[in-house]
Parts: sequence; structure tokens; C-alpha cells
Amino acid sequence: MFATQLFRRSFSSSVAMHGKKVAVLGAAGGIGQPLSLLLKLNPLVSELSLYDIVNTPGVAADLSHINTPAKVTGHKGAESLGEALTGSDVIVIPAGVPRKPGMTRDDLFNTNANIVKTLAEGAAKYAPKAHLLIISNPVNSTVPIVAEVLKKHGVFDPARLFGVTSLDVVRASTFVAAIKGKNPEDVHVHVVGGHSGVTILPLLSQTGIKFTQDEIEKLTHRIQYGGDEVVKAKDGTGSATLSMAQAGARFTNSLLKALEGQKGIVEPTFVFSPVAQKEGADFFATNVELGTGGVAKIHPVGPMSDYEQKLYAEAVVELKKNIAKGVQFVKGA
Ligand code: NAD
Ligand code: LMR
Repeated sequence: MFATQLFRRSFSSSVAMHGKKVAVLGAAGGIGQPLSLLLKLNPLVSELSLYDIVNTPGVAADLSHINTPAKVTGHKGAESLGEALTGSDVIVIPAGVPRKPGMTRDDLFNTNANIVKTLAEGAAKYAPKAHLLIISNPVNSTVPIVAEVLKKHGVFDPARLFGVTSLDVVRASTFVAAIKGKNPEDVHVHVVGGHSGVTILPLLSQTGIKFTQDEIEKLTHRIQYGGDEVVKAKDGTGSATLSMAQAGARFTNSLLKALEGQKGIVEPTFVFSPVAQKEGADFFATNVELGTGGVAKIHPVGPMSDYEQKLYAEAVVELKKNIAKGVQFVKGA
């Protein structure tokens, strides 16, 4: 009860007159369950629709006993995807398999591409105006997959499709704060590019904090491969779930606030973007201002050090391959 009250206070003090319907696809999973818990505590959510191929009736029954206004419904199996999605304003997708030690995110492509494609087809059919937040890896490819599916159905709006890269920014704050003795909540790092290895580019030169070159290189590597730390520590049982749930809930809350008309809400996210299009990458993560229609203004990368410019060039090469793989998966099908 006390935790709930604290959490509620951390959101906007003005409780919405009418909330939004949020669907979570993959809601019974390692991310799905804690993410759904955090969304159940969010006063901007009026209805929480939980979809998975297993266990959602139990998760929904459990969460529905929490005394917050959001109405919770559970939907299990492909035949219930339509009822889960209909009327959704926001659809968050953490469905799919996670990594095991020794795997890259791209190694998840074969399994997760199909899962995400099927769910995107459902979204196109049952909730074509919804905002889609993609967590399933490899994000650099799953977001282009969703875009291509929506295009095929004639309902693609680039302002409503987001790859969730918030965890990179959350980690960057934590890791920088740890070596500089600061409160992580006061450290803001602009992380651009994509969401895997060299495509994750933290722009430490923009933080206003002084670093040695050795610190920059170690921090950059740690932020790029932070996911591997968790995969290794979980030793075959999965990847980041709790930190991802927090990061996903933060992004969803920011979007909900923007949809309600709050101004000046900026989050990093992987979107259809002009930022690196001249280098051939149609999707790119930078800070994005959110508004009532989703993406309102895409911020540029901003000034980079010589070191960051070198990493930027490496990031774009890899990102282009990841994006092309996702596009080809749908177009070649
Ligand atoms: P998990 O295995 O614990 O949960 C995945 C859930 O998806 C399961 O409940 C499963 O039943 C469900 N699922 C499988 N196929 C489905 C389908 N066709 N429709 C609906 N649901 C389906 O995995 P997890 O740890 O929750 O991770 C989920 C995904 O999120 C992975 O791909 C992982 O790599 C990714 N991830 C992304 C980030 C990020 O920063 N974007 C961070 C962490 C994890
Ligand atoms: C993360 O960054 O933690 C996620 O993308 C999961 C992973 O595979 O590392």
C-alpha cells in the first residue's frame, strides 16, 4: 500500500480524467509480469489488457486485486488476440525469447521475427491507431519488421512506432553515477543509435561531466554490453527483466503523459528518423519529444567528440544491416 502510494506520487500529481487502454503482449513473461504490475499502478491507465500464449488468466486475476482504478483483463492464445487488442491506445510488446550466455541479440531473430510479425499483423487489424512500443529483441530488426507489416496493411504511421531503448539510458546514468559518486537520477546521458553492441552509442561528451579517455572507453563499453552482464549473471535463465520492466514502464508513462497533452516530454527511442537516413539507416534512436500524436519532434544527435564520431560510423554500418534484415524478412515473405 505504502509502495503504491509512493509510486503514484512519482507520477504526475494530476490524475487523468480518463485513462488509456494499454495492452501488453507477452504479459506472462519475465518482463511482461513486472511491467504489467507497474502499469497497473499507473493512474493514466484505465484498462490493462494482458495477452500471452500462456498463463495470462492467472496474472490478470492476481493484478486485478490491486486497488488501483485500471481494469485488468487476461487473454490467452492466438484466438483471443483480437479481443485483447481492440480499443487499445498503446500496445507494449515484450513477447519473445530472451538470450542465453554466448548469444547475440541477432541470434534471437529467427524465433522473435515471426512472433513480432504475427503480433504486428494483429495490431494492424484490431488496433490500427494504437501506439506500438517494441521491446522484443533484436529491436534494431523487430521495429523495421513492424513498420513493414503496418505498411502492408496501409496503416503505418511513423509517429506511432517506437523501439524501446530506455534501458540503455537507465544503465548509462547508473554506470556514470557509480564512478563519479553522483545520484544516478541526476545524471542524463544521451544514448543514440540502436539497441545492441556497437550500435549503442552513449554521448558522454554531452553530459557536461569530465572524464579521462580511459573512463570514456570503459564506460562506453559497459553501456554497450550492459545487457551481457545480466545475461551472464542469470546463467542461462534469461536476460534483464526487472530493470527492463522499470525502463519500459517509464517510457510508457512518458508517452501516456504526452498523449494526455503534457508538454516538453522527451525520451530516447528508436524511431523512423531522418537523423541517419543520408547514411542509409532509416531507423535511429535519439532523444524524441513526445506529443498527443506520438513522435512530435526528433532531436538531432548533437555535437560528438572525435572518438564518438568514429563509434557513430561503426554503429551506422551495423545498424543498416540489422534494419535491412528486418525489412527483407517481411518483404521477402
Ligand atoms: P520471457 O521468455 O520471460 O517472456 C516472453 C513471453 O513471451 C513469454 O511469456 C512467452 O509465453 C511470450 N510469448 C512467446 N510467444 C508469444 C506470442 N506469439 N504471443 C504472445 N506472447 C508470446 O522473456 P523476457 O525476459 O520477458 O524477454 C522478452 C523479450 O524482451 C526478449 O526478446 C528479450 O531479448 C527482450 N528484451 C528487450 C530489452 C530491451 O531493452 N528492448 C530488454 C530486455 C529484454
Ligand atoms: C538488454 O539490453 O538487457 C536486453 O536487450 C536483453 C539482452 O539480450 O541483453
